[in-house]
Amino acid sequence: MKEKPLHGETSVDRMKREAGIHAAELVEDGMIIGLGTGSTTLYAMEHLSVLIEENGLRIQGVPTSFQTEMRARQLQIPLTTLDASPELDLAIDGADQVDPDLRLIKGRGAAMTREKCVAAAAGELVIVVDAGKCVRSLTGPVPLEVIPFALHPVILGIRAMGGIPVLRNGIRKDGPVITDNGNFVLDCSFGEILEPERLEGILTLIPGVLSCGLFCEFVEKTTVVVGEEGGCRELKRS
Ligand code: 5RP
Repeated sequence: MKEKPLHGETSVDRMKREAGIHAAELVEDGMIIGLGTGSTTLYAMEHLSVLIEENGLRIQGVPTSFQTEMRARQLQIPLTTLDASPELDLAIDGADQVDPDLRLIKGRGAAMTREKCVAAAAGELVIVVDAGKCVRSLTGPVPLEVIPFALHPVILGIRAMGGIPVLRNGIRKDGPVITDNGNFVLDCSFGEILEPERLEGILTLIPGVLSCGLFCEFVEKTTVVVGEEGGCRELKRS
């Protein structure tokens, strides 16, 4: 059942806010940081904007979507690009599921391709989630960004693997979602994902798949900040 918002903010919103603020406090003066996409990252950006204005924090951010870029401009967070700054100190981003080994499913916002580029470029990856995103094992669906030219061969390939691909449709837009890179998104269900690294490798190798929402390769540099009611906890690989 969907929770009724109290004063317009749900308990999940509060958990996201806690995580976002905590992540923003990890950013140090002079850093160049990746700015992920989604509501939890936006809370981090709002707090970064306060730190810039009130504490004189000097940072530059690389946005991973049009949404993030527009919000960063409103919040007066200075921006740069991966071309100008191919090595980032840290990236802050959200996730849809996090397992105990800190492997992730991302891409509800269809921004996973740029998010993966930014995560790869970052020295540290700070993932901000509400407590409900932490799961015992990843169950998907796994979003794939697919070039329109190859949509049907990719659908056949996913079915041949036993997956169920669903083309993501727009809301308040007829037809498929078009990503910031001009491509489609296939949400692919595989049930419980027992070997996420293996599945990520296989999916990424399908011709026409630009990127996959499984993020398994960054666990060693990942800190997950889990927002809870009245605080948060950090998870790292021990
Ligand atoms: C966008 C993402 C988001 O980071 C993820 O969906 C989490 O979003 P939110 O913080 O709004 O729950 O992967 O592509």
